Amino acid sequence: MWTDALAAWYEEHGRHDLPWRRTRDPWAVLVSEVMLQQTSVARVLPRYDSFLRRWPTPQHCAAASLDDVLREWTGLGYPRRAAALHGTAQTVTRQGWPRDEAGLRALPGIGAYTARALLAFAFDAQVPPPRDVNLGRVAARAALGVELHQATPRRLDTVLAASRPETVGAREHAFALFDLGATVCRARTPACPACPLTSCLSRPRLQDGAAPPRPPRRQAPWAGSMRQLRGAVLRAMVGDAPPHDLGELEAHVAAVPAAREPGAVAQALDGLRRDGLLGSDWPAG
Ligand code: ADE
Repeated sequence: MWTDALAAWYEEHGRHDLPWRRTRDPWAVLVSEVMLQQTSVARVLPRYDSFLRRWPTPQHCAAASLDDVLREWTGLGYPRRAAALHGTAQTVTRQGWPRDEAGLRALPGIGAYTARALLAFAFDAQVPPPRDVNLGRVAARAALGVELHQATPRRLDTVLAASRPETVGAREHAFALFDLGATVCRARTPACPACPLTSCLSRPRLQDGAAPPRPPRRQAPWAGSMRQLRGAVLRAMVGDAPPHDLGELEAHVAAVPAAREPGAVAQALDGLRRDGLLGSDWPAG
């Protein structure tokens, strides 16, 4: 899948100015990768800057309270990831950065993707590609002729690993494929005429603008969900004027649809406590 045409395309059209591509600092790379797992590049840019201005090293973040980190994370979603980032800051402050995949995966919230991203982008290791949805979609279409949801993770990893010539670094390879996936080989609107991968196996079925088959729906809608309620409860609890008791908390989040279900607010609160996002010392007294 790596061709001279792709290299030339990346040189000309790649997003070389993304701030997390201009650093090899593992902390900065980790913050960017955790944010990018749930949020678009455009929305991450200002949040990445403010997070790193506030906590430029794991030592700074480890010294902050979890509440402060969760507050800084507000609006980015999936607060468990912020709590895991805080946990990782504490571990690497004590022990330093592991330099292999197994060691990195033992850190809170770091799975195969993030471990490989750290190895490739911060430690310049020549590892199998960190496969996010963009890399997966490009590999599925170009090398297998199918959509992402029609390919198994193993086959995707195999074709991606095979697609990097030894002369191309893991970093550049992944960056080029991220960018191709984000800007040309888009999920719903692939732009085949602009694509440098001329022998892509999906070009015949997609180049005329036919809509790619949709994946079956996996995540329930956000509006009305327990996730939405949990987000609202967490924001209330770490906000400037936290409620004093359950009644006040229920009033605070009353506009959220899932809060209408009897007991739902208490259930959301319990879930956040179980996940370690809130302490159990509330309400006071
Ligand atoms: N550059 C480095 N990591 C990235 C990511 N996860 N998505 C897009 N561009 C990136």
